[in-house]
Order: sequence, then C-alpha cells, then structure tokens
Amino acid sequence: EGQSIPSIEGLTLHSTNEKSKFAGCYPSLNPVDIYREHISEKLAEVTSIDPQLIYTKLAWTSTLDKGDLNLPVAALQIKGKKPQDLAVELAEKFPESDLVEKPTTFGVHLQFFFKPGPLTKTVISRILENKTTYGTNGNLGLRDPSDPSKGQKKVIVEFSSPNIAKPFHAGHLRSTIIGGFIANLFTITGWEVIKMNYLGDWGKQYGLLANGFERYGSEEALQKDPINHLFDVYVKINKDMAEQEAPIKELRETIKQKKEKNEDVSAEEAELQKLVDASDDEKARRYFKSMEDGDPEALALWKRFRDLSIEKYKQTYARLNIDFDVYSGESQVLPESLQKAYETMEKSGVSEKSEGAVIVDFTKHKFKKLGKAIVVRKDGTPLYLTRDIGAIVERHEKYQFDKMIYVVAAQQDLHLAQLFKVTELMGYKDIADKCQHINFGMVRGMSTRKGTVKFLDDILRDVADKMHEVMKRNEDKYVQVDDPLATADTLGITAVMVQDMSGKRINGYDFNLEAMTSFEGDTGPYLQYAHARLSSIIRKAEINAEDLPKADLSLLTEQHAIDLARYLAQWPDVVINTTKTLEPTTVLTYLFRMTHMLSSSYDILRIVGREENVALARMALYASARQVLYNGMKLLGLNPVQRM
Ligand code: ARG
Repeated sequence: EGQSIPSIEGLTLHSTNEKSKFAGCYPSLNPVDIYREHISEKLAEVTSIDPQLIYTKLAWTSTLDKGDLNLPVAALQIKGKKPQDLAVELAEKFPESDLVEKPTTFGVHLQFFFKPGPLTKTVISRILENKTTYGTNGNLGLRDPSDPSKGQKKVIVEFSSPNIAKPFHAGHLRSTIIGGFIANLFTITGWEVIKMNYLGDWGKQYGLLANGFERYGSEEALQKDPINHLFDVYVKINKDMAEQEAPIKELRETIKQKKEKNEDVSAEEAELQKLVDASDDEKARRYFKSMEDGDPEALALWKRFRDLSIEKYKQTYARLNIDFDVYSGESQVLPESLQKAYETMEKSGVSEKSEGAVIVDFTKHKFKKLGKAIVVRKDGTPLYLTRDIGAIVERHEKYQFDKMIYVVAAQQDLHLAQLFKVTELMGYKDIADKCQHINFGMVRGMSTRKGTVKFLDDILRDVADKMHEVMKRNEDKYVQVDDPLATADTLGITAVMVQDMSGKRINGYDFNLEAMTSFEGDTGPYLQYAHARLSSIIRKAEINAEDLPKADLSLLTEQHAIDLARYLAQWPDVVINTTKTLEPTTVLTYLFRMTHMLSSSYDILRIVGREENVALARMALYASARQVLYNGMKLLGLNPVQRM
C-alpha cells in the first residue's frame, strides 16, 4: 500500500505504488478510477476498441444528471459509422455489470451511471479510511510515477511580494491568497514546493527611507510596529521631498528663460546646485549609492528595516496559514547575476545601446506587442526588469526547478511577458518554457471603514470587527460560541479569502464587506457554517468514530444520500482538474454545490430518533461529507471551524 508523507498542515499526501494497466489510474486513491478501468475493459471486451483509448476519453461530468462518466463517442474515431449510430450500438452491446447501469445515449454521448449500492459503499468507506489524504495524489508530482525513488518534481511558487515601507495593496492580497492556494495544490499532488516571497526591498526609496528615519524615526516605534512605522516615516520624508521640488523647478525655469535671452545665469546655477545637493532626493540617491557600493553602515540599517519587516510579515501570513521558505527580493539578486545578464544579452544580440542606456527592442525581434524596455539606465544602474532577468537564471541554477510560477497582478502582464521573452532570446528557452505567469484582475474599492487602507493587518482586523457585529445579531447562537472574537477573526479571514477566490482569477471584483460577511449566498461564513453544522451533528450524535466503518451502507437508499455519495466520489477528479485550471474557483464551486446538496438533505436524512443502523449509516455519510469539505477548505488555505 501507499506511504503517507506529511504535507501541508491538516492535509496528508497520499501516494501509492499500485500498478494499473492504464496510465495515471489509481483506484485506491480515486474511486472513479475503479469505474474508468471497469468500463474501459467491459466495453473493449465486446468491441474491437482499444481499452486504453476508451480510458483516456472517459470524461467526468459537471452535473450528476449527465451521468457519472461520459464517453463522447466521436472521440473514439471509428471510421465508417455515424457517432450517433455508434452510440446506440455501443449502449446495446455494453454487457451486464455489477458496478454500472446500462449506458444511456445522449446524442453522440454515452452516459454511464454508477450503481448506487457498490458506489456508496466504496466511496464512504474510502473517505473514512483515507481521511485527510482523500483527494490528494502524491503520484502526480513524481518524476516517474512508477518509481518514487526518482524523486519529486520541484516547483517554485513566487507570491505575495510586497514592497517594504509601502502599503500592502490589494494586488499583494490577491497574490498572497492565490499563491498560497497554488502552493498547497502542488504540495498535495506530490510536488516539492518552494514558496518564495520576492520583496520589493531595493532602490533609491530605501536611501530616502534611511534618511527619513534619521529625521523622523523612533527606535521604539520601529521595534513595536516596523511596518506601520516605516510607512509613516516614508510618507513624511516624501512630503519633505515634494516640498523641496517646487523651488528647484522654479529655479530651473528661470535659468531656462534667462538663457533664452542670453543673460548671465551663473548665480542661479550655483544656487540650483546648492538646492539640489541639499535635497532629500539627492541625499537618497547618494545613500542608495553607498548601499550599492556595499557600505557596511548603510547596509546594516537597511538590513534591520528588512529583517524587522519580515518578522512582522511572518505573523500576518501565519493568520492566513502561509509561511515562506525563502524571503528573496530585489536586493538579493547577486551582482554576478546582473553582470552575467548584461553580458549574455549583449552577446546574444538581444540588447543594444540607445542614447547612453541599454535597451531591448522587442519590435526588432518580431515581438511588436512587447515594445521596448530599458535594461540599464544612463547612469549604469539596473531596473526592476533587469533584476528579474538576473534572478530567473540565478534561481534556475540554484534550485534546478521543473517549474516556476509567478503570481502577479495582470497589470504586470507586459513585464512578465518581456521577462520570459528576454530569457528565451538570451538562449535560455528551456528556462523560459518552465515559467508561468499566474495573473489576476484588480480588487476595486478595498478600504477599511476608517478610510485609509495600508496593510493586510488593518484589513483583516476590520473584517473581523464586521464579522463580530454580524455574529452578535443572532444572540442565541452568539452566547454559545466559546471564543467569539477568535471565531470572528477566523470567519473574517475566510470571508476575505472566499470572496477573492469565488470568480475566475482574471476577473476583478468589488471589495464588498457587507456581501462577504453575510451568512447568505456563497460566502466564506456560509462555508464555515456548513462545516460547523456537520461537526455539530457528528458531535451531538455521540457515535463513536470507530463504529462508523461498521455502518451498513446499503441502508442509504434515498436519492439524496446516493447523489451526495456520487458527488463525494468526484473530489479526487476535481483536484486533478484544478491542477489544470489552477483556479481556486474550481474547488470553491464544487464545495458550494456539495454544501447545497447537504443542506437540502438534512430534512430527509435525519438522524435523531431514527433506528440505530440507519442513524449510523447516515452518520457515516455526513462524516464523509465533513471530511471532503474539510479537505477542500484546507486546500484553499482556510481554517475550518468546529463551532460558531
Ligand atoms: N514587488 C512587486 C510589486 O509590488 C511585485 C513583484 C512581482 N514579482 C516579480 N518577480 N517581479 O509590484
């Protein structure tokens, strides 16, 4: 049997060495695979069709009324027969089976319905046995699924990536939520995952910040709340800088006018030089230059800002069940990597000199849409893009990844397209091909009720407050909650995350406090409520967990029970499908549909007052549903609550 490797908190990886003659078929992981195998073999027996072909064409269905598996007959590519007629013929030929009903035809499709008895039995007992491993599949991420000793494939997921001393904006929030989910998804499908945070932590603004700290900083405030304090300092020094700009601009204008009239400007120029030299902008430039030159004192201060900020970020990420393996950042790209990038770009003819700077002109390389990009400024310094070019090659050398995912807002589509294209043109097509940009649309109107939105903590606190208010509206329930504030906090985080993951990534959405904290509709609180309700049913029934596997599942004869079991059977396939879409909504849509089925079942599949065996069987069904809901929520990065 398969081994279990601990993976993301709350979920365990399931992997198995079992061999099927069909590739990617693991009946012990995925109950539907039992049926795929069975149908392929049965149908092949009575026709001359290759069972392998049938196996690969058997598709899962989106709704249960379309059957449990669907075979689009045309995909079998059998010559000389109309697909419609072939469907009828195959349906007639399909032999009697213990597992599936006779297939029904639907136009050019064959629909297979699983027989209820064996299905409920298999699915429920498997879920109760596999628990947190149900739906995970440790074989997908293996280099060679038939030989685990060859190791796992490696993926770097780069996400969140905020900028130190600047607000953590909605783009960072989405990147954090979606990136955390993608990291989980790869982990539970058996990949080795490196979670990387690429901080914006380098550039002239950190020179400005250092000088600002000298003027406005407080050691105490820095220790207490580095993120907010550094931001305050940054805002203040920016204001100073802006004020200094006006007279400089004025003087420049005067000089220009005087020059036009051929008047003497030496006095003004001396004055201008003095103003510029004394300006915070120039001081910032000089300070940053000293950082670039490796001045230990300058670097020590900057490093303290960085370290303290990271420490604080870590606490906030922990609230979202996220931790990073690597805090990299713009500052961490090695000078050698940049040097190498310059040389390779020049040698391969990708870059060219232009007015003292170095640029890449994509239009010349037949990529009109990518325009032109500067890679080295006139003063010889690299840019955001340049550091990414250095980093991509450096990371490949260091980690030897099989795949790298950048979770960054769609606003940076051009940036990432340029990055991947330069990488390719430089001669690293192999690296470029392993990289993928996972983009997403904008969140509109994210602000706290106090107005300003600055940091993730502010947002989470605000949503938790709101959640607490909503909970208090139902006083009966409220008094039963053990720790209402902690629950409000968890529900609030769930609310934010579920709203974010509800639609397709590329769609933006309105940050709507009212809607996301409601218990009605497909919201985070609703999902938590569904989990808490199941937990409470299980708790109240006082049935021993050890007795559940003994349940006589043949007593589950109601259509509601059967449909629920059929739907629970799909969970492993949903996970596999999600590895293709990389969309959290694939999971969320499934979970909401499942919870809707549940809520319409409670009245019919009662437990209280039922005959003991019936109660036990229904309990086993509910316990399985709770397990799948739990596994799905964990995959999304949520903390399922027991009570609320
Ligand atoms: N720090 C950047 C920003 O806030 C995002 C970094 C994205 N990642 C990258 N490799 N460029 O816009």
